[in-house]
Amino acid sequence: MKMLQLHDKATQIAQTWRANILHWYKKHGRISLPWRNLSGENAPYGVYVSEIMLQQTQVKRVLESYYIPFMKAFPTLTSLANAQEESLLKLWEGLGYYTRVRNMQKSARICCEKFNNALPQTYAELISLPGIGKYTAGAILCFGFRQSMSFVDGNIRRVLCRIFALENPKERLLDELAALLLDSTRSFDYNQALLDVGAMICTPKNPACLLCPVRNICKGQANPALYPTPKKSILEPLTLHLAIYVDKKGKIAFIYEDKKEGKNALYQGLYNLPNIELENITNDEKYYKKCGSFKHHYTKYAITANVYKLDSKNLAILKQSMPHTNLYFFSSQELDSKPLSSLCKKALQLAGFNVSRSNRI
Ligand code: ADE
Repeated sequence: MKMLQLHDKATQIAQTWRANILHWYKKHGRISLPWRNLSGENAPYGVYVSEIMLQQTQVKRVLESYYIPFMKAFPTLTSLANAQEESLLKLWEGLGYYTRVRNMQKSARICCEKFNNALPQTYAELISLPGIGKYTAGAILCFGFRQSMSFVDGNIRRVLCRIFALENPKERLLDELAALLLDSTRSFDYNQALLDVGAMICTPKNPACLLCPVRNICKGQANPALYPTPKKSILEPLTLHLAIYVDKKGKIAFIYEDKKEGKNALYQGLYNLPNIELENITNDEKYYKKCGSFKHHYTKYAITANVYKLDSKNLAILKQSMPHTNLYFFSSQELDSKPLSSLCKKALQLAGFNVSRSNRI
């Protein structure tokens, strides 16, 4: 279908579409999610935090372990602006894509300086803030400031592609279709409903078309896997050799990926186990013991992590492998307040160390 035909089609189906989606939402939607029940002047901030957390993470995980503790620790934009980076990262520990929380703090600081300690209420100002893109700006305006706005995230994109049987549409076309379909008098519920249809019914694999409130007007339901064309995921393989060096006092050696190390750091701002280069060190097994291996996905990497234990006599092996890197030593108890990557935690668990998410700072 041509663009104008698609516009006409959207206008034709708009009324049924809105009515069916909102009706379904009232019965089956996740209306009690905490970020959907905020009020008062702090609501935009609560929405902002939720939208950033949900950018690359499933609702279930955000809900189970992250949103409420974060909002308790940093209940306002000002408290976020003034937070210690280590405390922020500790609360983000395990969520990955740590740039998200660092950008949130940068934005909070800008809002405190430029916008009177509050999030701005225009699209242009919101989108100028670090980490806020088109979707997030729209979501903050709609869910936080109750403005009538349409927007397209990954879930909404999939729903629209299927409804109109589009394989690989331009972003602009989807923005236009979303705007034509928007229920502008009830845009808060309408957009939350659309997100839920995408996450609960119109899923990437095995969509539940029989339960879909808009199946009667869906052009893609005979072959939902075609719409949109699946992206090839290209994961880069990466092999790491993680060393657990324990000193005489039982403290474990860590490296710290500093902000200054820039783009090459895999886990900026987090403590990690040293990644040793086995070729550079003696391969005599009396110097280290292999504990095992595991697979781990992180951003674009498919990591194979080999884990080795080095005892207190073998500090030289570490130093030889990474002569220019500072080492930091922490006891298991001290680790409770340090931000660690999931990769690092898995390795410590594999080697029998007790690390948990419990004691947060
Ligand atoms: N994903 C992104 N934003 C969301 C929201 N407000 N509710 C549920 N899932 C979401």
